[in-house]
Amino acid sequence: MKPRIALVALSLVLSLLIGFTLRRGAGSGASQASGRPIIGLSMDTLEVERWQHDRDLFVARAKELGAEVLVVSANGNDTRQIRDCEALISNKISALVIIPHDGAAMAKAVNLAHEAKIPVLAYDRLILNSDLDLYLTFDNVRVGELQAGYLVDKLKGRKAKIVRLLGSKTDNNAFLFKQGQDNVLNPAIARGDIEIVHEDWCDGWRPENAKKVLNAAITKSGRDIDAVLCSADILSAGAIQVLLEEGLAGKVLVTGQDADLSSCQRIVEGTQSMTIYKPIKNLANAAAELAVKLARREVVVAKEELNNGKINVPAIFLPVHVVDKDTMESTVIADGFHTRESIYKQ
Ligand code: GAL
Repeated sequence: MKPRIALVALSLVLSLLIGFTLRRGAGSGASQASGRPIIGLSMDTLEVERWQHDRDLFVARAKELGAEVLVVSANGNDTRQIRDCEALISNKISALVIIPHDGAAMAKAVNLAHEAKIPVLAYDRLILNSDLDLYLTFDNVRVGELQAGYLVDKLKGRKAKIVRLLGSKTDNNAFLFKQGQDNVLNPAIARGDIEIVHEDWCDGWRPENAKKVLNAAITKSGRDIDAVLCSADILSAGAIQVLLEEGLAGKVLVTGQDADLSSCQRIVEGTQSMTIYKPIKNLANAAAELAVKLARREVVVAKEELNNGKINVPAIFLPVHVVDKDTMESTVIADGFHTRESIYKQ
């Protein structure tokens, strides 16, 4: 699977990189547009495991391409993330890459960068209501479809009760995951196969908020639950703590996303059912390559687009993969994302 995932992703990136020329690209106040460009990477947080992989891979690829990367992380604080971007802009970056904590709040950073003639690439999460130059992400609607599809398939034949833990309302991705889940759940609910006994958003993607939502569900509807539909592994981590306290761990299906090491460990142990593996290397590499192009004022093309409330942003969507006990070896391990030893704690 390793070469297959890598090749599929690579060919997808290549095939998408045709036909859409970005509007911005010529003329820059930045001094490094040729030679060794400096790229600013403004991150929401480094507290969640996945974002540490993103940073390391992005920086490594940009360096290979001859660029320097300045990385800042805002710890989930919007004021700080704006200040981070201002600091990067005054550090003479030639391109700005943002993983927004709040996709609406960071429109201001796009404006500030554009005033300094610096192009902006949104990484993984969309920046709303702005003249964003490029958006690079995974197929987030598909993530939600695969999560819900896994449950509907496993729960076939039962009148199943599901609790749904949605993501952070400040993250546009959380709505895309929900949209994908709805695509699959709504027909099953209409058929009477599935009942959503409780659902709520988990602010800041925090595991403690996932615990609160699941505890509220149990208080409201009791322990008779068949599945907890978690939009990401960081939420399944909190949910599974509650299930352990309730003696329900391993008896209730739990979804996730990100193939975090602790989630992969829980999957082979049996307390989590599945996760979505998003080959971060493909995203980080493609983002670094495109950011360097933007920094060098080369033409960048993207075939897809996504409306951010103001414009149709040129966009690239990378494919995602379901991982459970049976496919751990052929996906995450074969791809070198985690070692077999670390997952099985050998
Ligand atoms: C989303 C991201 C997911 C997950 C989540 C929590 O925006 O797409 O992969 O990491 O944030 O950090």
